[in-house]
Amino acid sequence: MFNMSDPIQEIARLRAEIAEHDARYYKSAQPSIDDQAYDQLKARLLELEQQNPELDSSESPSHSVGDDRAEGFDNYTHRKPMLSLDNTYNQEDLLDFGKRLEKLFPGQELQYIIEPKIDGVAVSLSYEKGRLIRAVTRGNGTEGDVITQNLKHLESLPHALENAPNHFEIRGEIYMSHQEFERINGEREKEGLSLYANPRNLAAGTVKLLDPQQARSRKLEIVLYGLGACEPEDYFKSQAEVQEKLKAWNCPVLEKYWTCRGIEAVWPCIEELDSRRNAFTYPTDGAVIKLDSITQQQEAGTTAKAPRGAIAYKFEAERAETLLHEIQMQVGRTGAVTPVAILEPVQLAGTIVSRASLHNEDEIRRKDIRPGDTVLVQKAGEIIPQVLSVNLEKRPEQSTPFDFNSRLIELGIQAERQEGGAAWRVVARDNPERQSRSLRHFASRVCMDIENLGAAIVEQLVQRGLARDPADLYQLKLEQLLELEKFADKSARNLLEALEASKERPLWQLIHGLGIPNVGKQSAKDLESHLDSMDSIASASMEQLEEIDGIGGIMAQSIVDWFAEPGHQALIERLRAAGLNFQSKAKAGPKDGPLVGKVFVLTGTLPTLGRTDAAERIEAAGGRTSSSVSAKTDYLLAGEAAGSKLAKAEKLGVTVLSEAEFLEML
Ligand code: IVH
Repeated sequence: MFNMSDPIQEIARLRAEIAEHDARYYKSAQPSIDDQAYDQLKARLLELEQQNPELDSSESPSHSVGDDRAEGFDNYTHRKPMLSLDNTYNQEDLLDFGKRLEKLFPGQELQYIIEPKIDGVAVSLSYEKGRLIRAVTRGNGTEGDVITQNLKHLESLPHALENAPNHFEIRGEIYMSHQEFERINGEREKEGLSLYANPRNLAAGTVKLLDPQQARSRKLEIVLYGLGACEPEDYFKSQAEVQEKLKAWNCPVLEKYWTCRGIEAVWPCIEELDSRRNAFTYPTDGAVIKLDSITQQQEAGTTAKAPRGAIAYKFEAERAETLLHEIQMQVGRTGAVTPVAILEPVQLAGTIVSRASLHNEDEIRRKDIRPGDTVLVQKAGEIIPQVLSVNLEKRPEQSTPFDFNSRLIELGIQAERQEGGAAWRVVARDNPERQSRSLRHFASRVCMDIENLGAAIVEQLVQRGLARDPADLYQLKLEQLLELEKFADKSARNLLEALEASKERPLWQLIHGLGIPNVGKQSAKDLESHLDSMDSIASASMEQLEEIDGIGGIMAQSIVDWFAEPGHQALIERLRAAGLNFQSKAKAGPKDGPLVGKVFVLTGTLPTLGRTDAAERIEAAGGRTSSSVSAKTDYLLAGEAAGSKLAKAEKLGVTVLSEAEFLEML
């Protein structure tokens, strides 16, 4: 236990905790706490640092805006840093903000602008002579990732602006509609992939896809609200003028904003905004209150993290009370069991809520949630609402604590709780729901890509006992398939052909398809590229696995445990006997060709070749590609707008090739 009265320890603990939440939010887009809880941690840290200035440090997360930069992107230094905003949660803090500004500008009447605070992913668009030249993420506030290639196709993105300042940056937010979010999650569910918790996370994940083609298949929206650097500096006089100019340029803009004189007049505007925000097309989680005058904004200056002339007011997440009818158990692809509250439908934040996640057994016990209870549910950005607490006054008399294990038995789910972990996992392999989920995952596009093996067919195969695990699929006979509902000769033959073709899939797709807990697509690729064959992966030790970049202790343990199970060893042998590819083809690639043994890194946009295309040509000629420049890199294939990788390659003396030079080499 930490000694909370010791500020040194508490500061250290808070910094570590905040850094972890930052990484979850900015890097993996999978936050585990809501914004309000996060802000509380930060506020406490700030308070301690102010009380103990000797313990303050410029490295502290209280002085930074997080960092979203990821591997594989070029970086760009913002001409004007992308700062964050200080938050307030009540009227008093808001008035204090106004008082501070009145002191800074004595005797001057202050005009404010009140805008919706969009809950999206921050982006900065650079325009030169009116033409859009790049889109960049916030990054660490100073330097961000170039994501132009992932946004180019956005219909509403303005590519050219008439009579625009020579050099300038427009700031905005990327978001995703609920409809699109549900479409993508629906598809992911069908493919047995993990689901995104909310549209913001999915939007953040999408702008950071390394494959622009995949990014194009997901519909993103953008809304622009402000300025970054601007030349000439006095081009705009007020923030309201910026809004109007953006509108005149046909940019996607805020549907509504308010201006008023004096801080006292701000509150009614915030209230009106709150009452209208559910009708906005973008998610709005608060209000941003700014000095309207650009000169005053500049004069007010900034702290390390936020401007002094603006502040955010966050709306409280919406909550409602409702009856919890029962607790159901959802079995995931890897056999993990998630408890779900089935609720009396209730209106919440514009939608009707009838289910809520209960996370795990400990969470239910901690909150003492029982069927029959009246519970408080909250929806804060997440699509799946959370059960916050129980209204004990409304608890029925005969109520007894919820027993997780008894409920599992009641539902016929054989599962066990792993030692040291919070999750229960199904143990019996004969759970049909689990079998069909894992077969669907195996057959999905990101795994073995078996065409014609959709959910309905998998369901029937499992029900009839024709397939329990992936190896069974390769034993299927034409006659057996013909017995399935709605299955004619043609479709049966197609399926058999697809199965045959799948035997040649790259090793990583097979590894991914096995559904080893915690092993996703990237880890499967990493396993293939470092260990070369199924046999070396199966026999790898913890140490060998942990040496691989991107594979941590938990994953390594999962892999070792999975291959240690006799049932899984038998499965592997049956897959081998069926003739599936167990070798890395990347390494077994052409032994001759102009690029044998050469390592390439790609950067920027090539004039004619797409990235995938270029990578395929390199591999076909015997070469390899890597995502980062190092001393082992032989060539950097650089296109337009190449950034930090180019600089690094030049520093290391790596040969830089243009597309034309590359094609000539081939
Ligand atoms: S002004 C110096 N206005 O919220 C930062 N930001 O929590 C000035 N945001 O970094 C930003 N809507 O990414 C501003 N109407 C709005 C906004 C807005 C959303 C984002 C922005 C900012 C973050 C701060």
